[in-house]
Amino acid sequence: MAEFDLVIRGGRVATAADVMDCDVGIRGETIAALGQGLGAGEKEIDATDHLVLPGGVDTHCHIEQLSAAGMMNADTWESATRSAALGGTTTVIPFACQHRGMDLAEVARDYHALAASGALIDYALHLIVTDPTQVCLTEQLPALIRDGHASIKVFMTYDPMRLSDEALLDILLAARTHGALVAVHAENHGIIAWMVRRLLDRGYVAPKFHAVSHARVSEAEAFIRLIALAELIDQPVILYHVSTAEGAAVIREARGRGSKVYGETCPQYLFLTADDLDKPGLEGARFCCSPPPRAEADQEALWRALALGDLQTVSSDHAPFADDEAGKRHAGPGATFKQIPNGLPGLHWRLPLLFDAMVSRGRADLQAFVRVTATEPARLYGLDGRKGSIAVGKDADLAIWDAARRVTISNEMVADATGYTPYAGMEVTGWPVTVFCRGQLVVADGVVQAQPGSGSFLPRQAGPAARPTGRLSAEFDPTQNFGADLY
Ligand code: URP
Ligand code: ZN
Ligand code: ZN
Repeated sequence: MAEFDLVIRGGRVATAADVMDCDVGIRGETIAALGQGLGAGEKEIDATDHLVLPGGVDTHCHIEQLSAAGMMNADTWESATRSAALGGTTTVIPFACQHRGMDLAEVARDYHALAASGALIDYALHLIVTDPTQVCLTEQLPALIRDGHASIKVFMTYDPMRLSDEALLDILLAARTHGALVAVHAENHGIIAWMVRRLLDRGYVAPKFHAVSHARVSEAEAFIRLIALAELIDQPVILYHVSTAEGAAVIREARGRGSKVYGETCPQYLFLTADDLDKPGLEGARFCCSPPPRAEADQEALWRALALGDLQTVSSDHAPFADDEAGKRHAGPGATFKQIPNGLPGLHWRLPLLFDAMVSRGRADLQAFVRVTATEPARLYGLDGRKGSIAVGKDADLAIWDAARRVTISNEMVADATGYTPYAGMEVTGWPVTVFCRGQLVVADGVVQAQPGSGSFLPRQAGPAARPTGRLSAEFDPTQNFGADLY
């Protein structure tokens, strides 16, 4: 009888810490051994001249979710996770999204049902809270966190989703009490709404004005305010989709004074700019997302922030809408930028784009690539017991990369339901060719093998990254005559 169920032999294995030439021995769903000359496997894969990397962990993507404007994403769980797997990702954390008036517990049940039958790879769920009623805060949220949903997402903009500062404080406190990381879409709503009105009133309606309406300062202002609220409560937060140099600087400063503030950016802010929205007719709609892509100087600032560790993760923020009458063009040829659904597809493209920029073009090393795409995302969201690295005892989530393969990204390659990629025409070097999730073959030589429903739910508890610092704000200092009961 063979010693292992599967041996991946002869590859170059990389983690966030090390690069080593060794075999990977897998028993059942987990990594059982790393070493040279491992014993026989029931199945063997020859990874000579290839890299063996942890499967990607994409902690921000929207799947079968109603947008703020009430539009359904283009993808099903099947099409979204299919495209993720083709891009080397083996774990996703999309959202169970409460809209106002909805019962959060029912929302979570509905998303679980969709995911359980559709997912090809493993998944967890964040809880989007837009209606923090007493029942939601004191009963539903604590129960859902206990059941393994240890992260909450909130919005500071989008009329139907946004929360007041008071509501944000309520949620930060609930997260602190019950143990969850809070992820935030932080943009100043007033600035954007005012800019939109001024632009539309003057006939500035083309997609490129979407970028103008999200004035740069709307990001930094909201970051500063959110961080102030989080520091008052002593609750760790992650700022989603950081797009500007100023936003990254705000995070750096907060981290410099010891706050548990984390930051994420996305490929659209590293590889696209506002100029991409400036295309004839509605073509620029393909690039409309919030916040919008910015300038080349911002791209450089974000790369620096990733290198410095001020930003820890790069997620896709996959928010798919087809470039057709059901999606980006639903309001007809005369649509204003305000009527274009926000969001870009990215599950498929995140890892190849980053691998090319970081490893092939030499911006960083292999370990840094693994760190920002797998290890840190898993750690921040409480998945690192199983995901995000290659080590004995971890889930056998592995992507075998051909580091020399050159691919020109094209619309013909698209496997999600949007029918287009914002990165069409970009040439990358390095591609994930074979992918395993918990030891099961998900993609073989670029062909999907897994069946819908083969992905598993990953219950999560908050890890150390999501725990309070323990440094109380002066107002709540229980050594004073009051305050011990305020948290
Ligand atoms: O434009 C984007 N990012 N749409 C998805 C929803 C969100 O804001 O994260
Ligand atoms: Zn967002
Ligand atoms: Zn998003």
